[in-house]
Formats: sequence, C-alpha cells, structure tokens
Amino acid sequence: MSEGVQIPSAFTPRVFSGIQPSGGLTLGNYLGAIKRFVDMQAEEFETIYCMVDLHAITTWQDPADLRHNTRELCAGFIASGIDPEQSILFNQSQVPEHAQLGWVFNCVARMGWMKRMTQFKDKAGKNAENASLGLFGYPALMAADILVYHATHVPVGEDQKQHLELTRDIATKFNHDFGVDFFPITEPVIEGAATRVMSLRDGSKKMSKSDPSDASRINMTDTADDIAKKIRKAKTDPEPLPSDLDGLAERPEARNLVNIYAALSDQTAEAAMAEVSGKQFGAFKPMLAELAVEKLSPISTEMARLMDDQAEIDRILARGAERAREITAPILAKTYDIVGMVQS
Ligand code: AMP
Ligand code: TRP
Repeated sequence: MSEGVQIPSAFTPRVFSGIQPSGGLTLGNYLGAIKRFVDMQAEEFETIYCMVDLHAITTWQDPADLRHNTRELCAGFIASGIDPEQSILFNQSQVPEHAQLGWVFNCVARMGWMKRMTQFKDKAGKNAENASLGLFGYPALMAADILVYHATHVPVGEDQKQHLELTRDIATKFNHDFGVDFFPITEPVIEGAATRVMSLRDGSKKMSKSDPSDASRINMTDTADDIAKKIRKAKTDPEPLPSDLDGLAERPEARNLVNIYAALSDQTAEAAMAEVSGKQFGAFKPMLAELAVEKLSPISTEMARLMDDQAEIDRILARGAERAREITAPILAKTYDIVGMVQS
C-alpha cells in the first residue's frame, strides 16, 4: 500500500450522474434520468449532477450549439427541480480532475473491454475507423466522472448499464493492481416505470435526441400543442389496451405509452395498467397528452425564463464547479500518490 495515503474504509452514500449537452433534452432524459435525480435529492444522499461536455465532443458539436445546449441543460435541471444549493450542479470541463483521472483509467481499462461496448458500436456505426478516439475511450472518462467523487450510486437509464459495469471493473482492477481499497464499487440505480423510453414512431428504438425524426420524441422545449400532436400521432396498434401488462408483451408501442403514463403519474406500470385497461387509444391518447402537458409545460416555461438570464446560469455553473473541486482535488491527489506520481 502506498505511503501517506489514507484509505477510506467505508464510503459515504453519494450520488453522481451526468447528461450530455449534445442536443436538447427529451422525455427519455427526463423520465429515465432527471426526474429520478430530483427524487434522489430528496433522500439522504449528497447529490452531484453534471453536464458532460467533454463526453459530448466525442462526436462533432458545433461550438455555438454546445454553449447553448450546456446552458439549456442547466436550465432544464433547475426547472425540473434540481436545487443548485442542495445539489452540486456544474459542467464537466470546468473540473479538470475528470479528464485527469480519465487518463489514469485509460491506462487501467483494457482494449478488449472497450471493444465490447455496445454504445460505441451503435454510435460508430459501420465506419468505426473514422470514429474519434474519444468515442472509443468514452466509458473510461465516464468511470472517472463517477469515481473522482467516490460516488456510490449512479441513477441512469437502461442504456447505461454496460458502462456502469465497466466502471465497476475499472475500480476493481485499480484496487487490485495497486493493492488498495480506494475506489468504491458503484451501484447503478436503474429504476422506475420508464428506464427505457422508446421512440414514438418505432417501439423497437430508444427515444433519442439524435433521431432524425422530430416526431419520434418529445422535447422538453416542445409547446403544449406539439406534445399533444406527437402523442396523437404516436404509432400504436388497433387493439384496445389489455387487462394486464402481460398482454403488452408483444405490443412495444402500446407498452411504451403505458410506461410513459405510469412514470409521469408517479405510479408503477402495474398500477397504471389497472387504470387504463380496456381503453381504446382514441380515449387513452388524450389522457396521456393531457397528463404530459400538465407535467412538462411548467418545466419548459421555467427553462425559457431561466435562459433569459445566462449570466446567472454561468454563475451557478462556476459555483458548482468550485464546490465539485473541493471533492475531486483530494481524490485525484491520492490517486496520483497511489500510482506513484511524484507531486512536489
Ligand atoms: P444522454 O442524453 O445520452 O447523455 O443520456 C442522459 C441520461 O438519460 C442517461 O442516464 C440515459 O440513460 C438517460 N436516457 C437517455 N435516453 C433515454 C431513454 N430513451 N429512456 C430512458 N432513459 C434515457
Ligand atoms: N454516458 C452517459 C449517457 O450518455 C452520460 C454520462 C457521462 C454519465 N458520464 C456519466 C452518466 C457518469 C452517469 C454517470 O447517458
């Protein structure tokens, strides 16, 4: 064990999660991530939420768009109920320890582990030779985001499960290689009725900010009319809703709308199903649209209001970064010490 390094024997419960400012926020981000970040803020955790701009540039981002999207994402967090006093809210590039620990983890993670990452394969597509090196190394930086806080819990949507397993592998290998018990083995928190919100046009595809079809997603900045129209036009099938969830097993579009209804009304999918069973889509879709507008419109109104004062958003981000660095600087220093870097 390395000299002068105090190894914590137990880790205090601490939540970390991040969202890329690579486009606008979708209903998938809201239900799969932000809404649950807000719930965890109310519990006994220290909560840290990040706009991961370093991750965003693993694929091309226009600089003006990146600036806008980072501020808008910050506004989205706050409008959804993240309190920047209670939680630490900041953008990744203002806390250099993320990239610094990310480098160490690039040297811990193995090529073979990275090659198995399905998100890389999906995003790189057929032309993997032309993908950025950053896109390939993305999960090692994500592990650094989490572990540079010794975070114990990470709320995410279903699509991030594999990355969180890799985070555990990196922590385990680091601890083993250096004979320490320094990094915690983080718990993914993938819970709720909407851990995987699907496209409104195709029940086999994830709802995503990068889908070329705007009708496939609900954006957090959509107007009430847009939201209602997209739900009205959402792909479905001709059958009425069944009496229980088993009846939705082969009906992905219908299942998706029931999950969205459940998550927006803070119910389990079972409870929501009991409420809507037997209804035709002609009756269910207007109910869902009304609920979505009721829950989302106040958020988009508040986002627009916050975006009117960008200087205030920038102050919040600066203050968040300062608070974040109080945690990350000592953890990075101890990591460097464990690894054997002379720091004089
Ligand atoms: P991203 O926008 O890819 O940075 O994702 C940010 C967070 O939102 C992650 O926790 C994702 O798992 C979650 N997320 C993104 N899209 C969806 C979706 N369609 N359904 C559920 N969660 C999602
Ligand atoms: N990879 C995540 C996504 O695309 C974003 C992310 C980056 C993240 N770093 C993180 C999520 C750390 C949780 C914890 O959704």
